[in-house]
Amino acid sequence: MTQTATDLSPTAQAAIADALNQCVAETTVTTMLAQNFHWNVTGMAFGSLHALFQTIYEDHFTGQDDLAERIKALDGHAEGTLAGMIKRSKVAEYAGHADDRTMIKTLQQAEETLAATLAAAGELAAEHGDALTEDLCIARGQTHEKFAWMLRAHLA
Ligand SMILES: [Fe+2]
Repeated sequence: MTQTATDLSPTAQAAIADALNQCVAETTVTTMLAQNFHWNVTGMAFGSLHALFQTIYEDHFTGQDDLAERIKALDGHAEGTLAGMIKRSKVAEYAGHADDRTMIKTLQQAEETLAATLAAAGELAAEHGDALTEDLCIARGQTHEKFAWMLRAHLA
C-alpha cells in the first residue's frame, strides 16, 4: 500500500533516510568533481567540456537539495558535512591534474555509480510503499544515466 512520509513507521523512515543520505553524499561529491573539471579542463574541446561540466554541477546542486529535503520530509537528519559525505560516498574526489579524457571517464563512472545508488534507494522506498521517494529517486537516477550517456559518447 502506498504511504505518505508521515504515515511510514519510524523504522521505515530511518531506513529510507539513510539510503537518501547515501544519494546526497554521492551527488555532492560528484558536484565537486564536475566543478573541479569545469575549472581545470584543457584541450581543443575546452569550450564544450567547460559548459557540459557546468550543466552537470548545476543539475547536481539542485538534485542534492531535493534529496536532502525529502529526508527532512521523512523526519530524518540530512548529513550536512563534507567530511561525513566523503566518508560515506562510493564516488571519490579527484586530486591532481587530469587530462580531458580522464575527466570524462571519471565523471562518467561517477554518474553510473550515482544511477545505481539512486535505483537502489528507489527500490528500498518502493518496498516500504513510499512511492513519492521512489519517484524522486527514479527521476534523479534517469538524469544521472543521461549524463553518463553524454559523457560516454565523447569517448566512442
Ligand atoms: Fe564557471
